[in-house]
Amino acid sequence: MWLRCGCPSRSVSTSLRVLASPLRVLGLRRCNTAAFMPESAGFGGVSGRSGLQEFSVSSSESFWAAVARHRLSWIRPFTAVQDCDLSRGRIRWFEGGKLNVSVNCLDRHVHTCPDRVALIWERDEKGTEVRYTYRELLEMTCRVGNLLRRHGVKKGDCVTIYMPACPLAVASMLACARIGATHNVVFAGFSAEALADRIRDAQSSTVITVNQGVRGGKILELKKTVDIAVQSCPTVQQVFVAMRTDNPVAMTARDIAIEEEMLKEDVVCEPATMNSEDTLFLLYTSGSTGKPKGLVHTQAGYLLYAAFTHRYVFNYHDGDVFGCMADIGWITGHSYAVYGPLANGGTTVLFESTPIYPDPGRYWDMVERLQINQFYGAPTAIRLLLRFGNEWVNKYDRSSLKTLGSVGEPINTEAWEWYYRVVGEERCPVVDTWWQTETGGICIAPKPSDPDAEIVPGMAMRPFFGIKPVLMDTEGKVISGNDTSGALCLAQPWPGMARTIHNDHQRFIETYCQPYPGYFFTGDGAYRSVEGYYQITGRLDDVINVSGHRIGTAEIEDAVVRTTNKPKGVFAFVVLKKNVDVEEADLSRQLNDIVSEKIAKHACPDFIQFVQRLPKTRSGKIMRRVLRKVVELDLDSLGDLSTLDDPAAVQEIIQGHRELLSK
Ligand code: WTA
Repeated sequence: MWLRCGCPSRSVSTSLRVLASPLRVLGLRRCNTAAFMPESAGFGGVSGRSGLQEFSVSSSESFWAAVARHRLSWIRPFTAVQDCDLSRGRIRWFEGGKLNVSVNCLDRHVHTCPDRVALIWERDEKGTEVRYTYRELLEMTCRVGNLLRRHGVKKGDCVTIYMPACPLAVASMLACARIGATHNVVFAGFSAEALADRIRDAQSSTVITVNQGVRGGKILELKKTVDIAVQSCPTVQQVFVAMRTDNPVAMTARDIAIEEEMLKEDVVCEPATMNSEDTLFLLYTSGSTGKPKGLVHTQAGYLLYAAFTHRYVFNYHDGDVFGCMADIGWITGHSYAVYGPLANGGTTVLFESTPIYPDPGRYWDMVERLQINQFYGAPTAIRLLLRFGNEWVNKYDRSSLKTLGSVGEPINTEAWEWYYRVVGEERCPVVDTWWQTETGGICIAPKPSDPDAEIVPGMAMRPFFGIKPVLMDTEGKVISGNDTSGALCLAQPWPGMARTIHNDHQRFIETYCQPYPGYFFTGDGAYRSVEGYYQITGRLDDVINVSGHRIGTAEIEDAVVRTTNKPKGVFAFVVLKKNVDVEEADLSRQLNDIVSEKIAKHACPDFIQFVQRLPKTRSGKIMRRVLRKVVELDLDSLGDLSTLDDPAAVQEIIQGHRELLSK
């Protein structure tokens, strides 16, 4: 049984809306910098967006000290603003300070507006959304916190959360923060193997999951996946299981029914006193080698940066409903579905479904139903929806929208224009936000900017407060001037940046700090326009970006299979971009030439099969096992295809494979 709030749709009081509106209208003009950002009153006459930006970079300590004092609730104030040395990978902010992140996200808002809606859970089943007030979310968090404590989870222990976007997942994250445990959210589309890798690397003793997930009308066997994963995770002692569906699942001695146990717990849970630099969470991301990196984010700096960027990039105000479509398993979900909005006392949407379920109007139906003011999505979803046509958008009232955001990969001009003109009716600024798991929050975005400042389609454009981007040439020198491209680095530390890679600080240094000593290397390339705006051109390393998520060479290798049966050899599966019109035989030759040139002749695939799509799990992991069985013509043992995003892909590949062999 799921803990629910029976309360009807509720928004914050009208008086708050009225109070907020003059700021919104005024935006950021020279005369009202202090109204725009109250801290700036202490910045000695700084005014305007560019004035604030310059100050935030040149007087970074004063800037962040004022922001941190103003925006976070401290148990004990910090004594040093920062102690950073990028060349050594040493990054520390707000040391001496003590605080609790869950108190900042919950208790302080419960004191001022307990009945404000904190979460709107947009369940997979359209029209069945559930709202949770700040008071209810605090109670749920406290119950989970007490439960974890009773089951021996201590400060510094790591709890793995393998759940879809839902209130209990958020309460679990915040409960970890409350008792000082570290959380490790693993995207609930990852395979048992990927989950096990992450649990082992994080040395987690506790896992929280659900019996089954529901997405796009399909059931996902999450508990079964956990069962398989934990078989190879000796550290795991207990698995808490919530019930998302009514279907019972097999429970072992290790498993605990979380909702039943939560009911026995008190709704008050003493928050742990945490140091600014204690770990808040680990989040794994693909690197250029197969082993994923567990990036470490800490308490104060991360929370401050998530909240501050959420407030200013999206122009979020009290009473707004913020709709971030990202799953909580990615950094975007952490920073802009959970921590940023909650630290700001906002109302945030947790989206459990897909953009096309039950039909391609799902997003806009939701915007109308939930009255979403800021909508934050990924270019891949925008491109998908664009193809279905405008009628799916126009059917719904989108007048609540004020800002549209994009993240995860470059947004092409066509998609940007459609987002701006069709979805936003040319009323809403589109913010193309560039950032990474490593940066903790948005680093480059068109907003905030002066009200009349231009926004160029498909460009992230302007560095956020405290961010100093530089471009590097191939010799490692800073490139000055505009209308130029290079490797994107950030020249000074900011509070939201990752501190290290879990258990591998050396890899952190080698990946981010050594390529350009004294600078943080992002791994991305960028172009700086004549006007000085930044446009991200893509990854410079072996990591490729698929649908907004990073994939390393290991995953590319997954699309290549070798067989020793007949026909013998290496098979490569190639998906072409849409509307590419080429002769396949010709392209095969070209691909072989490239492989011979870049790697070696012997590395050339023996067969290249062009396919429409690959069999993937819904997190984008290629089902190599299926490819192997197809090339081995062992079609009776394809195994369980239920976890595939689109099982029809397999039939297409089998058909194409037959044709290839008959040639
Ligand atoms: C890419 C997602 C172009 C980039 C928040 C980065 C982008 C990687 C943009 C991080 C953007 C993210 N324009 N590319 N607006 N935003 N990227 O860690 O290559 O999942 O390095 O964080 O996504 O992906 P991650």
